[in-house]
Formats: sequence, structure tokens, C-alpha cells
Amino acid sequence: DDAVARAVAAFRAGEPVLIHDFDDREGETDLVYPAGAVDAAAVARMRNDAGGLVCAALSDAVAEAFSLPFLHEAFDHPAAANQDVSYDDRSSFSLTVNHRETFTGVTDDDRALTISSLAAAADAAVETDYDADDFAAEFRAPGHVHLLRAAPGLLDDRQGHTELGIALADEADLPPAVVVCEMLDDETGGALPTTAARDYARRNGFAYVEGAALLSSLR
Ligand code: 5RP
Ligand code: CA
Ligand code: ZN
Repeated sequence: DDAVARAVAAFRAGEPVLIHDFDDREGETDLVYPAGAVDAAAVARMRNDAGGLVCAALSDAVAEAFSLPFLHEAFDHPAAANQDVSYDDRSSFSLTVNHRETFTGVTDDDRALTISSLAAAADAAVETDYDADDFAAEFRAPGHVHLLRAAPGLLDDRQGHTELGIALADEADLPPAVVVCEMLDDETGGALPTTAARDYARRNGFAYVEGAALLSSLR
């Protein structure tokens, strides 16, 4: 698939990709970066052009090495007891974190430091014995970057932007850490329609790919 090949090549080159999931799921298009490519300008683009929540997704294996729980399992609170999200079985939210060398954690520089350090930590967890203690020495929770934990069987288990993004990183031979942010429509406040998301991609020279195309090529 041409769109998938273009997305893999762009990702490998450190460029963002727009991923629309499915009309019968969220029906959202996320701006997705390899975490290692995120700098302050990328964070600014996510909050100005995308406008959703800036989240860093990690593979199940890396999240396991870091001892990162799903928030709905970690919270002993009745609000977390019933996972009745309408578009899937559950969310993929884990902790929020900041790198310990950030100040407030929310500025473009601070979030870029947290995110690029997460990429390096994910790489270290894959390549070395970087573990939960190393993670805790480097990051504190709560923070200003939402972590997402991919399903163990990746696209066989769940087909969210979390898993679509990690599958794209795998295919591009990058560490399993990606950053996603929903494209919202400034006119309506809703999800940006796919036609407008495609236009945005074209205007900026970014790849746009459908979840269905990623599923059939990467699963
Ligand atoms: C975090 C979200 C987004 O939808 C994000 O795309 C990750 O979630 P999912 O894997 O469910 O698509 O909820 O802002
Ligand atoms: Ca905006
Ligand atoms: Zn999503």
C-alpha cells in the first residue's frame, strides 16, 4: 500500500504522520510523531494545529519494563471501576509523567524533554536492562505528558491510535515510543473531518494514512 509505505518512510525520517482510525471507532485523526523526533516546535505544532491531548504511547513490553499500570486498574476509586467507553473496551491511559529536569513540565521545552527522554528510555529498555527503578530515577508522576500502554498483542488485540502508532514505529525500526495528539476542528470543537485532515497533511507535506491500510499491511 502506497500510503503505508509513505508513512513508514516519513516516520523513519523523523517526520509526523496523520493517522485516521476508523469511522466506526473514534473517527479521529491523530498527528503522530516518533517520540525521538519530538522537539519544542513539534509540541507547539501539536497544541496549535492538532489541539487534542499530547500523549506518549509505549509498547506493552516497554511499559512492563517500566512497571506502568493502566490507570483504570491502578485507581482504587469507583469512577475507575466501570470502563464503559463507547468506542472500545477500555482506554489505554497509564500514568502522567514529567522528566525530573523539567520545571512546571507543561512548556514546549519541558514536554519535549520529557517526550524525547521517553524515547531514549524505551530504546534502553529494549536494548539494555533499563528497568522501573531507572524509569523512576528519571521521571516523576504525576506530570504533563499522558502515557499510553499498547495492548500485548498489539493490532491483534486493539486497534487504537496507541497500537497503530506503535505498529508504525516497529515497521520503521524505531524504538516503540510514539506521541499522538488528536486533530480537533477549531470551528466546531469536534474531531477534524478527514477531508480537512487530508488537506492539512497535503499543505504541510505530511503523510496521511488510514487505520484500515495500516491494519492490512502491518498486522
Ligand atoms: C488520548 C486518546 C486518543 O484517542 C489517542 O488516540 C489514544 O487512544 P486510542 O488508542 O484509544 O486511540 O484517547 O488522547
Ligand atoms: Ca488549534
Ligand atoms: Zn485515538
